[in-house]
Amino acid sequence: MKLSILAAIDRNYGIGKDNALLWHLPADLRFFKTKTTGHTIIMGRNTFESIGGGKPLPNRTTIILTKNPHYNAPENCKIAHSLQHAIDMCANKDELFICGGAQIYALALPLVHTMYITHVHATLQADTFFPKWNPNEWKKVSETHCDADEKHAYSYTFAEYIKY
Ligand SMILES: NC(=O)c1ccc[n+]([C@@H]2O[C@H](COP(=O)([O-])OP(=O)(O)OC[C@H]3O[C@@H](n4cnc5c(N)ncnc54)[C@H](OP(=O)(O)O)[C@@H]3O)[C@@H](O)[C@H]2O)c1
Repeated sequence: MKLSILAAIDRNYGIGKDNALLWHLPADLRFFKTKTTGHTIIMGRNTFESIGGGKPLPNRTTIILTKNPHYNAPENCKIAHSLQHAIDMCANKDELFICGGAQIYALALPLVHTMYITHVHATLQADTFFPKWNPNEWKKVSETHCDADEKHAYSYTFAEYIKY
């Protein structure tokens, strides 16, 4: 099974503030939707509670990571108490997407094979950060640049990295 990270990061690896994203980039949301629809996504409890009003994203299986043994699984979601447990729950899947936030990216980075990173060309005030990766361990295999426009306050680049 292929394990992949999906994240949007600023120039300082910032990913969020006050349990919300730092930007509204519709093209990145579309990219996220295209990549993950029909698949299983894993996210930390904070990220889950920050999106979709506490409801799972449609047409995907959501696994929420929490250490709380009493956390009630929201409707149509699964719960795991460790990243390995979440991965084991998906042994029959082709690809599994790790969707944040900072705590879960840090756990997952040593395990994943692919990172889909949207580089947002801005330096914003963040309180949560993507972990620094070792550039010697990762090869960029594609990148697509997009300019800022009336719907996107910042320019951004979709990049795909695979582990050497
Ligand atoms: N830019 C992006 O692409 C992107 C993507 C996703 C999220 N974000 C941002 O990231 C921020 C949230 O990140 P975050 O680091 O605060 O939270 P998070 O990683 O989403 O969730 C953290 C929670 O996950 C659970 N957890 C952590 N380690 C665990 C482990 N080893 N086993 C089981 N459960 C574990 C804990 O839940 P319990 O407390 O319930 O035990 C912990 O409080 C937000 O600002 C969000 O908008 C950005």
